[in-house]
Amino acid sequence: MSYAEKDILKVLFTQKEIEARVAQMGAQITRDYQGKNLVLVGILRGAYIFMADLTRHIDLPCQVDFMSASSYGKGTTSSGQVRIIKDLSEPVDGKDLLLVEDILDSGNTLYYLRDMLSARKPASISICTLLDKPERRKKDIKADYYGFQIPDAFVVGYGLDYAEGYRNLPYIGIVKPEVYGG
Ligand code: IMP
Ligand code: MG
Repeated sequence: MSYAEKDILKVLFTQKEIEARVAQMGAQITRDYQGKNLVLVGILRGAYIFMADLTRHIDLPCQVDFMSASSYGKGTTSSGQVRIIKDLSEPVDGKDLLLVEDILDSGNTLYYLRDMLSARKPASISICTLLDKPERRKKDIKADYYGFQIPDAFVVGYGLDYAEGYRNLPYIGIVKPEVYGG
């Protein structure tokens, strides 16, 4: 019995299902980025586990870098205001950037980051998200690669948190609304 089971309403994706899907995504990216200057940009902290697994399924020379942005207080909805907490460590001009996110929700975060990074003259920018919650989109932005589309529910695990908790769950599950007073 896991410490978190009492807080999880439903498991959406098991560890095995996630593993299989991430392997497929890596294979697709490997086909698409032949001969390019691939730099994977992990968006901290939610993407840390996905990023680690995805990169090991990409059979190409590539670099990894990280950014950290925040648009959330303690609640479960985006404030719409994005703050950069940590910028990239390397210049990206001429590189083929793949932004790696845990979840695309309102789109505020990736819309802002994509805009900001395109000013640095990369050769290309694409978006790879493990989860896509299209119902709540506020910005005109689509993932080039997504693992799973999910309904409008708040999910945790495999890197995703609620109030900094549950990131270490090996599966992805919906949190019971009573956990966040919903
Ligand atoms: P957006 O800017 O609204 O697209 O939100 C993106 C960020 O919100 C993600 O990187 C997550 O950190 C967070 N987020 C959105 N939905 C969820 C969720 O269901 N569970 C955990 N975090 C979420
Ligand atoms: Mg995040």
